[in-house]
Amino acid sequence: MFDAIQAARADAILGLMDAFRNDANPDKVNLTVGVYKDETGGTPVLKSVKVAEAKLLEGESSKGYLPIGGLGEFCDLTQDLYFGNGHEVVSSGRAATFQTPGGTGALRVAADFIHQNFPTASIWCSTPTWPNHPKVFTAAGVNVEHYPYFAADSHGVNIEGMLDAIKAAPVGDVICLHACCHNPTGADPSAEQWGQIADAVYARGLLPFLDFAYLGFGDGIDSDRSALIEFARPGAELLVASSYSKNFGLYRERVGALTVVTADAASAKTVASQVKATIRTNYSNPPSHGASIVREILVDQVLRQQWDGELSEMRERINGMRKLFTQTMAERLPDRDFSFIERQRGMFSYSGLTADQVDTLRQKFSIYIVRDGRINVAGINPGNVGPLCDAMSSVLGAG
Ligand SMILES: Cc1ncc(COP(=O)(O)O)c(C=O)c1O
Repeated sequence: MFDAIQAARADAILGLMDAFRNDANPDKVNLTVGVYKDETGGTPVLKSVKVAEAKLLEGESSKGYLPIGGLGEFCDLTQDLYFGNGHEVVSSGRAATFQTPGGTGALRVAADFIHQNFPTASIWCSTPTWPNHPKVFTAAGVNVEHYPYFAADSHGVNIEGMLDAIKAAPVGDVICLHACCHNPTGADPSAEQWGQIADAVYARGLLPFLDFAYLGFGDGIDSDRSALIEFARPGAELLVASSYSKNFGLYRERVGALTVVTADAASAKTVASQVKATIRTNYSNPPSHGASIVREILVDQVLRQQWDGELSEMRERINGMRKLFTQTMAERLPDRDFSFIERQRGMFSYSGLTADQVDTLRQKFSIYIVRDGRINVAGINPGNVGPLCDAMSSVLGAG
């Protein structure tokens, strides 16, 4: 039977990583992957995570299964972290949170839940979006539609196009929104635009689904949660997928959460029973280690402060590199405006390079960028920014 199976299409980013690994140029630069890099190009374990792990090793007394919805305390702490302490959505009991294997697990559980409970609903994704969004939703059997998002000329959000699409979407559909640090463009709506988007989404009777993979990576936790707070209006329903991969550096531990906000506490209980049924037939119950680390850090004042500091350090390094890259490009190509890189937020930006220019950068300069022009800003450091900007200006100057 297996002989008839055709090979799946290779993942473009993973293919580039292989090519990078095999590239003998000592000055090669990798701006493809979706993980945070420090100044030395490494992705170290956070110090607060190390301390929490030592405590866990000492104190863990059982390897018994977790409940289907995961560690209760982790779920409560997730609600406080994302909505802020004392938010009505949490205190009223109308939010139900489930620990999931990463943010991707949350997306998949939500998609299964949508497919089972709203079988005719489509999920609308931004153009462009994280390529796994449509793949995960389609794999769950949900139809995917696309709304305009990025305005290439301004390097910002095409708010008119987005609002028009929202106003025309079928009532009862779901709209997937990047809560902050849009991947792949780095372009986020302003606070005022988020207000307009939430007005339009609720006026049209759509269910907002906020994908929150980068809390703390934009301008800080308080500021980054503002889109979510905008949507958490009295009585409003929404879905939130949270990931702890980036902000706790727990990529391989697979820590995330799905939060369903319903109109009232009774409805939250009913919906929770359906989400649990979905999880039970998927992976049964989540893994413990990563969520226990997050719990350990968020309940301990000292560890939490340490983590806050480490998160700020990551964020400030990325935003510092955005500034340095913009300044260096301004020196190399004074006629070209790269200030949008400094304005954008999160780990990624659309550089504006064409696929041909990306190929030239790789072939001539061993600089690796995804072919749609997305760069991982966290891959830039004071040591490689000069050669990177030299190469980019050479390619852009020639173009
Ligand atoms: C927009 C977006 N959503 C979700 C995820 C999933 O994260 P996780 O690794 O926690 O599954 C990512 C990871 O890159 C992402 O960029």
